[in-house]
Amino acid sequence: MAVTLPRPGSPLDVAAIRREFPILEPCRTGKKLVFLDSAASSQRPQSVLNAMDRYYETSHANVHRGAYALAERATEALESSRRRVARFINAPSQREIIFTRNATEAINLVAHSYGRRFLHQGDVVLLSLFEHHANIVPWHQLAADHGVTVRWIPLTEEGELDLTDLDRLLEGVKLVGISAQSNVLGTLPDVAAVAAAAHAVDAVVMVDACQFAPHHQTDVQAMGADFVAFSAHKMLGPTGIGALWGRRALLEAMPPFLGGGSMIETVTTTGFTAAEIPARFEAGTPAIAETVGFAAAIDYLETLGMDRVEAHERRLTQYAMDTLIGRYGDKIRIYGPSDPTKRGGLASFTYGDVHAHDLSQILDDRGICVRAGHHCAKPLLAHLGVAALTRASWYVHNDTDDIDELVDALAGADDLFG
Ligand code: ALA
Repeated sequence: MAVTLPRPGSPLDVAAIRREFPILEPCRTGKKLVFLDSAASSQRPQSVLNAMDRYYETSHANVHRGAYALAERATEALESSRRRVARFINAPSQREIIFTRNATEAINLVAHSYGRRFLHQGDVVLLSLFEHHANIVPWHQLAADHGVTVRWIPLTEEGELDLTDLDRLLEGVKLVGISAQSNVLGTLPDVAAVAAAAHAVDAVVMVDACQFAPHHQTDVQAMGADFVAFSAHKMLGPTGIGALWGRRALLEAMPPFLGGGSMIETVTTTGFTAAEIPARFEAGTPAIAETVGFAAAIDYLETLGMDRVEAHERRLTQYAMDTLIGRYGDKIRIYGPSDPTKRGGLASFTYGDVHAHDLSQILDDRGICVRAGHHCAKPLLAHLGVAALTRASWYVHNDTDDIDELVDALAGADDLFG
């Protein structure tokens, strides 16, 4: 199915985009789907599904092993995907792209390999208070078995980073872990400013871009990051594949994470030597078809244009905040920056006293999918003083009619809990 080509400067043609997502056809799920949970995992356009099918139908064999044409075609499919991922985030070299299962595994790779080799007892890891568990637990694990200390960047009332005391916060810090977009608040921190301050004290910067890369033009060099992690499944690609970008000099100095086939130069009865990057960090048979789907998702997004994707989501964010607050006033509390231009395409909220899980159920009865709960960000929710939030998140196939459905459906909670 052809990817929709927008005219230069035009908004996204959402009606055409919707037709490219099979799951959004009412006949597939039995009812019209109002999918507002792309921040948890997005849906896939037909072109991504086709690319993976085509790979299995025409090109599959194991990669980097076989000396026959089919195996070479499979290897080229994987390496072509690596080049497209590198280009998408403006990485200086495709050799700096490590395929992982997801962003969580990418962060674990850094914590295990870089953390255990270069961080020492008493060193500090500085995290923002809006990190989700994937960028918290690996550092808690490092603290527990390696003696580093975890420290937190506080937040302002609006849910932005409070950097007033950054110099003091950075004392003793060897690694800063920060999300480029909060999965709960939508906050878009100034990653480049934090990275510059971190580098001034010789700390490295691990950016969790799993909520950012699907929605914004991503330039790892402009970010000033040292490591950047993201997942395909949040950006229209398949599950089970993600990427870690790391600065070449750092990756080359790091020991392997997992051991096995593909990651070795040689193995003897007494030991092994590790392969060069990126193979050093890709033990075992990789998720080859998933890298093909990952690249097809990138192609799809690039054809739409990341600037248009961003502008579209910003328009929906403005619309959602205006209509939710316009209709429900103080009854709805939306967390995070009140200025829609300072946040990504999502809104996490409480609605009166209705529990997020009840709300999610009521919305589901109308075919509206949202996420409810702690959003894998328990330290943040403890800081906000709430046990659960309802989160609606939008993407390229959503439009104001989806937001209208959400706004109308919330009134249904009043009938039950009013
Ligand atoms: N971290 C993902 C989310 O925000 C799973 O839903």
